[in-house]
Amino acid sequence: MDLEAFAARLSALRERALQAVRETADPSSLEQVEAAYLGRKGELRTLLGGIGGLPAEDRPRVGALANPIREDVERAIAQRRERLESIALEVRLAGERLDVTLPGRPLRRGSLHPLVETEREIARFFGRYGFVVYESPEVETDERNFEALNIPADHPARDLWDTIYLQPPDSEATGTPDDGRLLLRTHTSPGQIRAMHEMSPPLRVLTPGRCYRYEAVDASHGFEFFQVEGLMVDEGTSLAHLRGLLDEFAHAMFGAARATRFRPGYYPFTEPSVAFDIGCVSCEGSGCPACGRSGWMTILGAGMVHPVVLRNGGLDPERFQGLAFGMGVDRIAMLRYAINDLRVFLANDLRFLERF
Ligand code: PHE
Repeated sequence: MDLEAFAARLSALRERALQAVRETADPSSLEQVEAAYLGRKGELRTLLGGIGGLPAEDRPRVGALANPIREDVERAIAQRRERLESIALEVRLAGERLDVTLPGRPLRRGSLHPLVETEREIARFFGRYGFVVYESPEVETDERNFEALNIPADHPARDLWDTIYLQPPDSEATGTPDDGRLLLRTHTSPGQIRAMHEMSPPLRVLTPGRCYRYEAVDASHGFEFFQVEGLMVDEGTSLAHLRGLLDEFAHAMFGAARATRFRPGYYPFTEPSVAFDIGCVSCEGSGCPACGRSGWMTILGAGMVHPVVLRNGGLDPERFQGLAFGMGVDRIAMLRYAINDLRVFLANDLRFLERF
């Protein structure tokens, strides 16, 4: 090989190397090209390794021929690297672009369930009179749900309040009321017994929560429903306090002009007992199908706490008197929102729930 042929091979190598560099599409293939031409085992080294075949006087000129070619290829690689890096950066930035002028995505706004809303409104009202919310369990003993409330096992009122009984796994339940068997409470009234045992008068509590009954379900009866119980015990508490409190309540919930009345009622745990009526919210008292043409609607049961119940709560009925009331949250909500079927409350139908 003479010097001319050597130069031709060098220049061919240069052309191939520059072509390969131009064709690279990413930094790692560029590295491969770099290694293939300029690396320790690359083509340039291999070619230079062959200068032994040149005449001795030509050898010193080899460096002068080869160095500019190496520099050309190195420069091309450096430029290509810069270009590839800037392309990669552009691609990344395009992916991360954020148009701050786009309109925001609307947030779906939730709302409180109408029963929760109503329960809170009731609690807010009585809160103004010093009643505190006192949570009481849904699973109760027969003793607290019935016996302590003056409803013995053979009492006819039990028929109204049949419920689901839970058999504790380790109990030898005999089926008699005093065997400690557990049940799903039929009303929030057992909360009265708990409150009287846990606190001492003067006490004013409001016990909201879920109740259960063996009930043929229809538009106005659920086997699962919500009540709010009120209990106030103090010295000198009277029926007049009860009347005044409930009047204020009816006016706050159903309008200041709403007519109210007490009717005699019966509950084993209150004496006297009353039903509390308001003027019909549908016909304003003139009589319509919604109020059975009477012009009145019953919204709750109430009365003066029976002396036996006070005693069962550990209190002396000679010294303390109590007033108590219990209302169905479902019923209050139905009247306020003009809903005629309570089954919609627990049906989980968004078309209904989204209206609140
Ligand atoms: N517990 C009664 C019921 O479920 C309501 C009530 C509560 C009546 C407190 C009087 C006093 O029907």
